[in-house]
Amino acid sequence: MIPGTIVTQDDNPLPEILRERLPRSLFTRTIYYAPVLGSTNARAKELAKRGEAEGALVITERQTRGRGRLGRQWHSPQGVNLLFSVLFRPAFSLDRVFSLTMLVAASLVDAIREMSGLNTLIKWPNDIYCNGKKMAGILTEFSGGGRAIEYAVVGIGLNVNWDLRNEPELQHSATSLMNEVGYPVSRIALLSCILEALERDYRLLLRGEDGFIRDRWKRHTMVIGKDVLIDPQGEKKRATVTGIDRNGALLVEEEGGKVSSIVCGDVQVLFPLLAGKRD
Ligand code: BTN
Repeated sequence: MIPGTIVTQDDNPLPEILRERLPRSLFTRTIYYAPVLGSTNARAKELAKRGEAEGALVITERQTRGRGRLGRQWHSPQGVNLLFSVLFRPAFSLDRVFSLTMLVAASLVDAIREMSGLNTLIKWPNDIYCNGKKMAGILTEFSGGGRAIEYAVVGIGLNVNWDLRNEPELQHSATSLMNEVGYPVSRIALLSCILEALERDYRLLLRGEDGFIRDRWKRHTMVIGKDVLIDPQGEKKRATVTGIDRNGALLVEEEGGKVSSIVCGDVQVLFPLLAGKRD
């Protein structure tokens, strides 16, 4: 993909354009596109419960009840960002479900870099940051029976052409691709690039060849080797991050030397190093 791909007026991520760009993709077989939805994750979960096949993609331009992790809301103005969810039915056990979050985060970093030359960082478990500000969030929701995954829906909210300079409440904590590179980025080209990366990596994950996804995740994370506060809203335990396991759990060494793994929750990096410069 060429950095600075020109944005035409017709830059809506419409199913027919995606199919034309990715004719053989797992993620373009069934695409649900609606200009407005409550939440793409909620819609994808409804479809999953009705038996929709793996790979189904739900896209919208605006969400009226967009949701984030830990009961938070996800805000995005109409028609400038990417808001979509993907349905997975991987044949691996429930304890591996967050490897999908890791997979999606690594694919987002790759696609953003390919499209714009921008280096972004992954903040465990589900955020993409650039220059100290959040650019994207990932929400993984799932259902399982026994130890198997029945379905997993991974929703992505990626700020693409949102001019956050006009958002006084958000401009210090959030950013968009356009704000970082200085020109609008084609959402349709970016989404195609993300879906391509996702499919390539998902097939490797299914074959158990996921070591390289973890390596890439580690290379692009802002948490490994850092001092963090675990559960910053609650208990506030201080620890150093030592790694991530293949299920997406964070490995930490707490003060006093106790080694543990965190499957879900939040961490706050105590002394983040800013990154995300263009090459
Ligand atoms: C987070 O940072 O807490 C995760 C945010 C995830 C937002 C996306 S937008 C598309 C999909 N649909 C939702 O309702 N949420 C996810």
